Amino acid sequence: MKVVSGSSSKKLVEALVREIGCTKAEVTLKRFPDDECYVRIDEDLNGEEILLVSNSYPDRNIIELFLLQDALRNFEIKSLTTLIPYFGYARQDKIFEHGEVVSAMSMAGRIGTGSDKIILVDVHEPKITQWFDRPAISVSAMTDIGKYLAGKGVDIIISPDLGALEMAKTAARAANAEFDYIVKHRINEDTVRMDLKSLNVQGKCIGIVDDMISTGGTIRESARNIYLQGGRKVYAVCTHGLFSRNALEMLKVEVDGVYSTDTIENPCSVISVASVIKEALFKN
Ligand code: R5P
Repeated sequence: MKVVSGSSSKKLVEALVREIGCTKAEVTLKRFPDDECYVRIDEDLNGEEILLVSNSYPDRNIIELFLLQDALRNFEIKSLTTLIPYFGYARQDKIFEHGEVVSAMSMAGRIGTGSDKIILVDVHEPKITQWFDRPAISVSAMTDIGKYLAGKGVDIIISPDLGALEMAKTAARAANAEFDYIVKHRINEDTVRMDLKSLNVQGKCIGIVDDMISTGGTIRESARNIYLQGGRKVYAVCTHGLFSRNALEMLKVEVDGVYSTDTIENPCSVISVASVIKEALFKN
């Protein structure tokens, strides 16, 4: 197998190459002065099984991904698996107002073309995998996240809402911890209180897990409430650390630790998803 990679997730690509025991194809990636992208595949990939790796975030990586997919058409490759570690545009997964577009569907329709298989990681909404016109799966980083949190001595792993509860459950299983989710109670017009559904956090070490952290607002509010209710320590962990604007600096002040996987490279990418991807690659 040969890995063809764009400019995103470089650390993950290195980890994957080590984990799989394969090599990276020689590729030239450049930007013209006007920021348009140039790609060239510099070796013969005829007959190879290809793993193409690129995030569909930020936008510039989408173009790179499309050009790399097209560049691969110059070769008689054996198979093409497209790995999108962070599948951007996943959060618009339904129409809220007339005239909108389901961005996740637009992206899936275009990215799937030409691949034999698509692998995503903790995609924001599982139904998105059905919108590719090729077999697509989403693997989860939550077991690796749970193992990491076990090393931090967490007692309870929580999700900031019911929607992410399955992720908290998976992480908790790996950490041998309890799990719960946060429920918002409206006290009055101006006040919302966020409680854990059933567990008491008094004196406990808590790991909050989520698929992504963007502005950090969700984690900040959850953490503040946990501390208010007597939580001893709070660690925030996500699969995809987008950390928009000053989210990382802000969260470092708010919680005892912020960690993410290597789907998006950032100073907190301490957990690798390479092994879970390897499993998905070689599973029939
Ligand atoms: C929401 O459904 C997601 O799972 C995350 O909770 C959300 O996108 C986090 O966004 P932010 O960090 O901006 O609060």
